[in-house]
Amino acid sequence: MTGLKAYVVWDASVRWFHWINLLCMLGLISVGVAILNDEALGVTSDGKILLKTVHVSIGYVFAANLLWRLVWAFIGGPHARWRAILPGGRGYLNEVRAYIAGFRGGRPRQYLGHNPLGRIAVTCLLLLLLAQAVTGLVLAGTDLFYPPIGSWIAGWVAAPGLDPASLVPYAKEMYDESAYAAMRAFRKPFITVHYYGFYVLLVFAVIHILAVVVTEIREGGNLVSAMFSGKKILSGPPADQAEAD
Ligand code: HEM
Repeated sequence: MTGLKAYVVWDASVRWFHWINLLCMLGLISVGVAILNDEALGVTSDGKILLKTVHVSIGYVFAANLLWRLVWAFIGGPHARWRAILPGGRGYLNEVRAYIAGFRGGRPRQYLGHNPLGRIAVTCLLLLLLAQAVTGLVLAGTDLFYPPIGSWIAGWVAAPGLDPASLVPYAKEMYDESAYAAMRAFRKPFITVHYYGFYVLLVFAVIHILAVVVTEIREGGNLVSAMFSGKKILSGPPADQAEAD
């Protein structure tokens, strides 16, 4: 083949984020499924707290990694920035039309960063991850009294005269009954979003993997190895070269 050229696209922060995120998600999903099926699995009450503690420990890594990625989108390289991620901006709809026409015609436009449809997918994925992280941190506080909001929750539900710092998860005798009921009501929408977010994320993760495989087959560009090496190899001029310059 002639005319192949390698371009440095994904910087180290983006690559580390991607693979740490994948590992965390695998861990969070496995332990999350065990939490969901605790009764069927015969998990004891202590076992349930242990499962949640493991889930939350991985969750902190997941949330910190995500936070760094969101910050990096302000300060990182051209393909890591919000400008290269968020759909919209000048000429975006024309880009989408041209991309779809090229894809249908078997002459797909090649991109250094995300293609116009990929930008929609990445934005949805980041929003879903953020929703999962925020709701997870609230659940960690309301369930286990873990940071960042655990000490506030403990102060809310501690029985009169009890030191909030001494509260133990699932020790109802240590809680003020009505404050605890109010706290559980506050918590409800967060568990609902966390629960459905899990299923939506699963569907999205499968679509994401299929889209990468189909794009790689149709367009080349070694998408998978580029997430390790940072380099994409293209056979023609990239459609988003100007943005990267
Ligand atoms: C990709 C990210 C995540 C996925 C897929 C995920 C998945 C799940 C699933 C399936 C459950 C069981 C839901 C239920 O019991 O109804 C769960 C529960 C939980 N998650 Fe996550 N989670 C994620 C991130 C996080 C994070 C970042 C934290 C906190 C740091 C967290 C904290 C919790 C807690 C405390 C529970 C127990 C809630 C309860 O059942 O009382 N999760 N998660």
